[in-house]
Amino acid sequence: MPARPREPNWRALLRSWDAQQESFNPARERRFDAMFDILEVTQPATMHVLDLGSGPGSLTARLLRRFPRAESTAVDFDPVILRVGRGALTRLRSRVRWVEADIGGPSWARELPRRRYDAAISTTALHWLGPSQLRRLHREVRRLLRPNGVYLNGDFLPWGPRESGLRKISEAVRFAKYGRLGSEWVGWNRWWRDLAREPTLRPLLKEREERFAHSSHSKVQLSDDFHLRSLRAAGFREVAVVWQEMENRVMLAR
Ligand SMILES: C[S@@+](CC[C@H](N)C(=O)[O-])C[C@H]1O[C@@H](n2cnc3c(N)ncnc32)[C@H](O)[C@@H]1O
Repeated sequence: MPARPREPNWRALLRSWDAQQESFNPARERRFDAMFDILEVTQPATMHVLDLGSGPGSLTARLLRRFPRAESTAVDFDPVILRVGRGALTRLRSRVRWVEADIGGPSWARELPRRRYDAAISTTALHWLGPSQLRRLHREVRRLLRPNGVYLNGDFLPWGPRESGLRKISEAVRFAKYGRLGSEWVGWNRWWRDLAREPTLRPLLKEREERFAHSSHSKVQLSDDFHLRSLRAAGFREVAVVWQEMENRVMLAR
């Protein structure tokens, strides 16, 4: 009988994912911490959290380590990324539910294992959504949160088209502080190329290709102001940027 291909080293894949993400966002860990500081003072130790566009679970893993009684529902629609997450987070398995769903679509909330959450959190993911998808997501999240629940989104939320001067300043500060950062797409493409060498992932990679052929990455980068307005329109009463390094921001809504 032919030998079964060996399983990839899932934890190493998650580590290389983190390195790749950090190469263009050196403030990534500080941004995670800023989000958790807010959860710490607003939510119970036993909080149930929804991680939107979870990727392979970087945010969820850190959350569960910092709050040992918390639980997370991690939602993503990429079957390969979810497989990496499931493989890498086995030690936290009892506190994570992985959900394969398109948060840009109308019915993802039906796939969730719970009807109410203490917090909805997300990092570097919601910029994939277009304007109407984001508005719909905000309304859905508002419905899913408990009365004292919070929404926290850490992402690059650019200044709007009328603030091109601010954008230039932002780029200059980024360069002065960090030098020439690794390009997002170089690191991203390399990570996927390495993954394609794993024989056990081939069927899932094929499925991913088909799934992504019907879904597109948003071409529009929605401004911080768009996010603020959309969250208010969804019924959140208090909305603000609570952590920021130029365009890299954490937006809180309650
Ligand atoms: C750059 S990754 C960030 C992952 C993780 N939050 C992190 O900070 O490392 C963006 C993730 O969003 C997911 N994503 C993008 N659009 C999505 C959608 N419509 N539904 C579900 N997940 C989506 C992608 O599959 C990808 O895993």
